Amino acid sequence: MAPVAAIERAVFADPWSANDFTECLAAGAPFLVAVVGRAVAGYAVAHCAADEGEVLNLGVAQPHRRGGVGRALVERVLDTLQGRGVRVVYLDVRESNVAARRLYESLGFVEVGRRARYYRRPVEDAVILRAAIPAAGVSAKL
Ligand SMILES: CC(C)(COP(=O)(O)OP(=O)(O)OC[C@H]1O[C@@H](n2cnc3c(N)ncnc32)[C@H](O)[C@@H]1OP(=O)(O)O)[C@@H](O)C(=O)NCCC(=O)NCCS
Repeated sequence: MAPVAAIERAVFADPWSANDFTECLAAGAPFLVAVVGRAVAGYAVAHCAADEGEVLNLGVAQPHRRGGVGRALVERVLDTLQGRGVRVVYLDVRESNVAARRLYESLGFVEVGRRARYYRRPVEDAVILRAAIPAAGVSAKL
């Protein structure tokens, strides 16, 4: 878990602890780790209940960015959620996070709401994104 937590601390101003990741793993949450060569390059964590899923966390280490790791992680996490019967997936993203918003939008997520001042360090609104997962296995816009 240490490499994942180290990326998390480098990426986020308000990071999850190593214990937060361990608890998700212990709970059986979808938890994917991307390995490039011998290095942990990124991770994605999700949650699901009945036919709804949520992407809880996603991070790619700076040296591995813009190489398709983030896209691969989100695609695989959507596949994993689909395999657990999920049909709609939500997530929160900082309003200013252009990189993540473009990634999610390219995979079919659309804005469905906002949470005012949701994030800390710095305080910022969250944009709520949603994507449907069709039975065929590819995410798509509603
Ligand atoms: C968002 C993040 C996961 C993207 O990871 P990545 O491995 O660099 O992404 P990919 O290489 O798979 O890029 C996929 C698409 O995302 C978008 N994207 C990624 N980085 C971008 C950037 N810096 N600016 C604009 N768009 C970007 C592009 O649409 C890109 O497609 P393209 O390469 O065909 O243009 C990564 O930047 C990151 O870890 N950011 C910090 C943590 C974070 O914001 N997590 C999400 C919280 S909701």
